[in-house]
Amino acid sequence: MLLDFLKAPIGADLARVDAVLREGLRSEVALIRQIAEYIVGGGGKRLRPALLLLAARACGDPGNHRHVLAAVVEMIHTATLLHDDVVDESSQRRGRATANAAFGNAASVLVGDFLYSRAFQMMVGVSSMRVLEILSDATNVIAEGEVLQLMHAGDASLGEDAYLEVIRRKTAKLFEAAARLGAVLGRPDAVREEAYASYGRHLGSAFQIMDDVLDYTGDAGTIGKSLGDDLAEGKMTLPLIRALAVGSPAVRARIRHAIEEGGRLDDFAAVTAALAEAGAIDYARERARQEARLAADALAPWASDPEVGTLLQLATFSADRTN
Ligand code: IPE
Ligand code: IPE
Ligand code: MG
Ligand code: MG
Repeated sequence: MLLDFLKAPIGADLARVDAVLREGLRSEVALIRQIAEYIVGGGGKRLRPALLLLAARACGDPGNHRHVLAAVVEMIHTATLLHDDVVDESSQRRGRATANAAFGNAASVLVGDFLYSRAFQMMVGVSSMRVLEILSDATNVIAEGEVLQLMHAGDASLGEDAYLEVIRRKTAKLFEAAARLGAVLGRPDAVREEAYASYGRHLGSAFQIMDDVLDYTGDAGTIGKSLGDDLAEGKMTLPLIRALAVGSPAVRARIRHAIEEGGRLDDFAAVTAALAEAGAIDYARERARQEARLAADALAPWASDPEVGTLLQLATFSADRTN
């Protein structure tokens, strides 16, 4: 599941991160091992660890904490996925049944808690208040984002700014933290740290906008998730928000009805057609590209570094991706 262009620059590093991650899943409680292995072993693109590793290298990290912190970031991501799939009532992830579908909601929530707390045990081992501050802030903001999103479910009046605020919290914050941590591990440089943080934030926003596009237009086999989860939940994402803002009266009525009815799945094809008719999918893709350009702009001063070249490829991928 690793992206091809990451294999040469950091394939070996990522293999080491996976070893640390698996070591971190150790528990005397068999069900924890089983579920944690199930979700971690299911693959995943390992984008957040990749960001941290590339940023650390580009910023001259002289130490040996980057593999542990990359594993910590992936562990936090995995914990959010376990919880998110319960909340979203999703049944497919990484091309197989979600943990909640396979083991039940209660087990997924509790193993998610185990992963969060294990991640904190591991980061304490790094003995850096700055690292703890970055990761505890990020974890807290992600939780706020997920709760904010829950509050907005079924609210057809949600605007683009409120949507962007949600995705900055629930998704972009962890990308920001990963990139910032890489910079913090390197030689101290406040300007560069903020530039990397900005890169991560914009990349994460592009990534989530495309995730929301793919929930309507993707190929289920390629994304490894079911389509239509967002609509089924009444989740107001950018394609819907745009179509409600600029669509014809018929398009707007169709979408408002689907959202307010809690998005029955038999509405899915009609809603997807309405989004396309309103140009809302194209608009969301363009917004993702804008965010990816802002991410690239943040790193422009260092664009000739080879690791930064790979980070720029990641930004392009985030806005053009199909998986
Ligand atoms: C899924 O993230 C959750 C979102 C923020 C959209 P990824 O698409 O990075 O998930 P994996 O780790 O590759 O499965
Ligand atoms: C991302 O949102 C959730 C997190 C940041 C945990 P989604 O709910 O769209 O993610 P997927 O589609 O389930 O991966
Ligand atoms: Mg979800
Ligand atoms: Mg999604």
